[in-house]
Order: sequence, then structure tokens, then C-alpha cells
Amino acid sequence: MIITIDGPIATGKSSIAKKLARAIGFIYFDTGAMYRSMTWGLLKHNINPDDVEAVKAYLEKFDFDIKIRQGDRYYYVEGENITDAIRGEKVTSAVSKISAMKEVREKLMALQREFSIGVNAVFEGRDMGTVVFPDAEVKIFLTGRPEVRAKRRYDELKAKYPEDFKEMTMEKMLEDLNRRDTEDSTREIAPLRQAPDALVIDTSDLTVEEIIQKIQEFKDTRRTRLKEAT
Ligand code: DC
Repeated sequence: MIITIDGPIATGKSSIAKKLARAIGFIYFDTGAMYRSMTWGLLKHNINPDDVEAVKAYLEKFDFDIKIRQGDRYYYVEGENITDAIRGEKVTSAVSKISAMKEVREKLMALQREFSIGVNAVFEGRDMGTVVFPDAEVKIFLTGRPEVRAKRRYDELKAKYPEDFKEMTMEKMLEDLNRRDTEDSTREIAPLRQAPDALVIDTSDLTVEEIIQKIQEFKDTRRTRLKEAT
């Protein structure tokens, strides 16, 4: 079974997907981390995203790996552990543009579908329920008030990367979040959209546990309905 969780920035997608997967014994995939890893690789090699031929050549040899240790995921590109680096300022400000490229999306979509073969998994991202897994049995779309999401992201980044984000203010965070949301939802290919058959949850005033409970209830009703239909 595939469960997809999509939604804009800082709606709690990662924490929810991770906890949900653990609770029901599924594997968890953070597809944003894959776009970030690809971005890190392109930046490392100083490849200009406007140079489509150079990007294509890099995609051919994209050397990406995920290692799981004690339930935590570590991301590797060309053998280097980049788990922390992909959350930093450089990658964060470049990833929207790179994830809008058709060639990049095709490559990562193929990789994501490959990862899904023969496993029960929760895939978290922006286009999981609409483009990558349109036949997923359970689709979730998380939303949240921009102010609440900006505050969440602000607290998280300041705590984890104080040096990288020392100039960051709440106003700038909100502006940044709105800009990235707009970029993600207005891009031509695989924009951030809610699938028509997705359960929509506004996470602004709910705890992670309450959200997981809603998803589990929805999963159970979907399963019953799918059984009845066969
Ligand atoms: O979820 P995140 O902030 O780590 O995602 C990083 C970027 O990748 C964000 O700009 C949206 C993009 N992304 C995407 O286009 N498609 C996905 N399935 C996942 C992320």
C-alpha cells in the first residue's frame, strides 16, 4: 500500500509522515530531501540550472543513496553524507528553481517509483498523490495558515542552524514561505495541487497525534471501501 502526503512548506509533512510510517510499520520517503540532494550535487559541481545540457549530463550520473540507521535517514550524494547540508541556506534558496525543471522531475519520479516497488510506504512531497502515485490508495493533503507555518519553520531553523539563519526575521520567513509556496504551486510541471480524492487536513491547530489519528481513520475507511469495490 502507498500513502501519499502532500502540502506546502511547514505543514508538518515530515514529522507526520515519519511518525505515521513508524506507527503502522511502513517505510517513509521524504521526496523533498531527494530534490534537495539533487540541488546540492548541481551546486557542488557549479552547474548552472539554465544550462539544460549540463544538468542532463549530471542527471545521467546522479549518484544518490539513502541509508537508514536506528530509524533515522541519512542522505548521500557521491558517497558524501549530506543530510545536514541539504537543510542549509544555500540549498534551500536554490531548490525551488531546480525542482521546477522537467528533466530533474522525470529523473526523480522514476527513482521514487522504483523505491515504491513491493513495499508499504508513506511518500511525502508536493506531487505524490497527483503525479507520481495517482493510484495510491490513501492520499492526504496538509494545509495550514501561513503565519503558523512561518513561525514553525522559523523556530526550527533558528534552533537547528543558528549560524546559517542568523539574519532571518519572522517577516522575512513569512515572505520567503509565501514566495516558495507560489513557486511550487504555479510551476508548469507537477505543481503543488490537492488530488481530488485526498483527505484535506488543516494542521494549524492540531497536534501531530490528532493528525495521525485522522489519517489512520481515513486509511481504515478507504481500505473497507476498496474491499467492497472488489
Ligand atoms: O519539502 P521540502 O521543503 O524539503 O522540499 C524542498 C523543495 O523541493 C521544495 O521547493 C519543493 C520541492 N519538491 C517538489 O517539487 N516535489 C516534491 N515531491 C518534493 C519537494
